Amino acid sequence: MAIKHLNGIQACVFDAYGTLFDFNSAARAASNQLGDDWPRISEIWRQKQLQYTWLRGLAGRHADFWQVTGDALDYALATLRVNRPGLRARLLDLYLHLDCYPEVPETLIRLQAAGLKLAILSNGTPAMLAAVVRHNGLKSLFDAVLSVEEVGVFKPHPAVYALVSDRLQLSPTAICFFSSNAWDAYSAKASGLRVLWCNRFAQAPERIPTTPDGEIDDLSALPSILLPATTR
Ligand code: LAC
Repeated sequence: MAIKHLNGIQACVFDAYGTLFDFNSAARAASNQLGDDWPRISEIWRQKQLQYTWLRGLAGRHADFWQVTGDALDYALATLRVNRPGLRARLLDLYLHLDCYPEVPETLIRLQAAGLKLAILSNGTPAMLAAVVRHNGLKSLFDAVLSVEEVGVFKPHPAVYALVSDRLQLSPTAICFFSSNAWDAYSAKASGLRVLWCNRFAQAPERIPTTPDGEIDDLSALPSILLPATTR
């Protein structure tokens, strides 16, 4: 599913956690307290966080991503029987200060300079997203930071993806969405957006409806895929 060029894209919309921001960087930064358990805690934390979003969506019992992230962290710490004073608060604070992946700033700067609109579409709450964008010095690059809180349900509900063309006032076919979360990429495609799956973790393709338009290893390929040769 390699891709050479996508024509007619006017806006790039990015998933946040795992796509722009490294969710492992929170537990990694606390490795002095977590020791060798930090990768396992991070993995369980993330898996449980996503499961809770899906379960809450199906059950019609929405709670915001801050609560879900805290609940998932509690589950991860309890699973590994980690119970140190102040650790929960520290990890949650680190989640507001996640590092972006190394290629992100340069890629966004080049896309913005070429005249593309840039936005985020995430499960994160507005406060969580504002914090992590500010922490990485990316605020001036985004035209919009869209949170599922505007529709009160998590991805992959179609109402979430519909927010994008509504807010950017563009046809879905003029928008390309990028996510490292395959299920998110596939679901955005099913909602009519153009989509590239940023397969950072070299995962197998999903067996769910509607495959994305292509697959990339990370975001550094975007200028060559999206911009005319003269502006790269
Ligand atoms: C998000 C999650 C899915 O940012 O990574 O929406």
